[in-house]
Amino acid sequence: MPKENLSPYFKRLNASLKNYKQAIPRLLIDLDALDRNLAVLQSMLQAAVGFRIVVKSLPCPALLDYIMAKMDTKRLMVFHQPFLSTIAASADAEYDVLLGKPMPIQTAKYFYQTLNTNNTTFDPFRQIQWLIDTPARLQQYLQLAQGLSQKLRINLEIDIGLHRGGVPDLDTLRTALQLIEAHPDFLEFSGLMGYDPHVVKLPKIVRSQEKAFELACDSYDQCKAVIKEEFPNLWHSDLTFNGAGSPTLPLHHSARSPLNDISAGSCLVKPTTFDIPTLVAYEPACYIATPILKKLQGTTIPAIEPLKGALNWINAAHQQSYFIYGGYWKADYYYPSGLRENKLFGVSTNQSMLNAPLESDLAVDDFVFLRPQQSEFVFLQFGNLLAIRHQEVVEEWKLMDEN
Ligand SMILES: Cc1ncc(COP(=O)(O)O)c(C=O)c1O
Repeated sequence: MPKENLSPYFKRLNASLKNYKQAIPRLLIDLDALDRNLAVLQSMLQAAVGFRIVVKSLPCPALLDYIMAKMDTKRLMVFHQPFLSTIAASADAEYDVLLGKPMPIQTAKYFYQTLNTNNTTFDPFRQIQWLIDTPARLQQYLQLAQGLSQKLRINLEIDIGLHRGGVPDLDTLRTALQLIEAHPDFLEFSGLMGYDPHVVKLPKIVRSQEKAFELACDSYDQCKAVIKEEFPNLWHSDLTFNGAGSPTLPLHHSARSPLNDISAGSCLVKPTTFDIPTLVAYEPACYIATPILKKLQGTTIPAIEPLKGALNWINAAHQQSYFIYGGYWKADYYYPSGLRENKLFGVSTNQSMLNAPLESDLAVDDFVFLRPQQSEFVFLQFGNLLAIRHQEVVEEWKLMDEN
C-alpha cells in the first residue's frame, strides 16, 4: 500500500473496529489484499504445476476454504497431527494431503486410532502422503501399515541443501526405494519433497541466489533420475515432486524448476519475516488490532517518577504513552508509526506500555495496529480471525483446533 494511503486505511479500520460488538485484541485478514496476493500467485504458477496450501501458515478452516476455492486446489501441506485429524474429519474424496515434516510413528498410529471419517468421503490411506526422511522411519511405517492391513503412501523427503531433514545422499535414497519396492502390498511410493529456503537466505558473499538455486535443482534432478533409471516400477506420471515455499516461490516460475507441486502459505498474508526481495509483489494482508485502555502525557515509570521530564526530553518518542489491551506478541508495531514498547516499564502480555511521539493523536478506545512477524504461531493466539473487506468486518472465522 502506498504510504499516503496508510493513514486513511487504518483510520477507517479503526472506526469499524470501534463500532464492532467486542473490543479485544484481534487478528485481521484483509480479503481485498489477500485477493490481490492470490492474483499475483496465479500469475506466477506454471501451467503444469499444482499449488499446495501450507496449512500451518494459514491455520483457519474458513481461510483455507476461501483460498482453495480461489486457487482451485484441494492439495494441502500439513505439519501438525491435530490439524490433520481435523481436516480428515471434513475433507472430501478430492483432497490430497502431504505431510510437511516427518511425524513420529506414535503420532501416525494415534492419527489412525482416533480417526473419524464417518461424515466424509476422505480416504485416509489413498489421500495422505506420509513424509519419510530415513530408512529407519520407513521401517516403522512399514510395520504400521502391516498392523493396519493397509497400504500407506510414502513421500520421501530429500535434503537439497538446507540440511534440516531428508535423505542426505543418493545411496540412502536407494535404500529407501528398495524397501518400498520390496513391499508393494503395504507401501506405495508417491514422490519427493525437497525444501529450499536457504537459496534466498544465504549471504551473497557465501553463495549467490542463482548458484544456490541451480545446486538445489541439480540435487533434486539427481534424485528424480535415480527413481526413473533404477526403479522404473516406481516411476509414473502421477508422482508428486513437491518443493518451494514462499521465499523461493518466484524462482520456481521457470522451466528449470524440477517441481510439479509447489507449496506456500505465508506470502498470501505476508507477515514481516516475508518482507524479502523475492516477495515484493505481495502485500501485507494480516494485522493485529488492539484497543488503547489508558493514555498518559509523557512517560511515567514506577519509582522514577521525578525523571519523567528528563525521559521525555531525552527521547521525543516518549512524549505520550498508551497502555494497550495485551501486547508482547511476535509482531511489529505498524500504525500509527513511531509506536514502541517501553522496555524500562517491562513488556506485558496483559497490558503493555507503548510510547509514541507527540503528533500521535490516538485516544482511549482507539486501536493500534501491528504486523505479525510470522503467521503460524501468532494466528493461533487469537480465538477467531476477523475477515475484513473495504475496511469493514464481514465475517468471524474460527481458528484450527489445537488438539
Ligand atoms: C516443507 C515446507 N514447505 C513449504 C513451506 C512454506 O511455507 P510458507 O510459504 O508459509 O513459508 C515450509 C515452511 O516452513 C516448509 O517447511
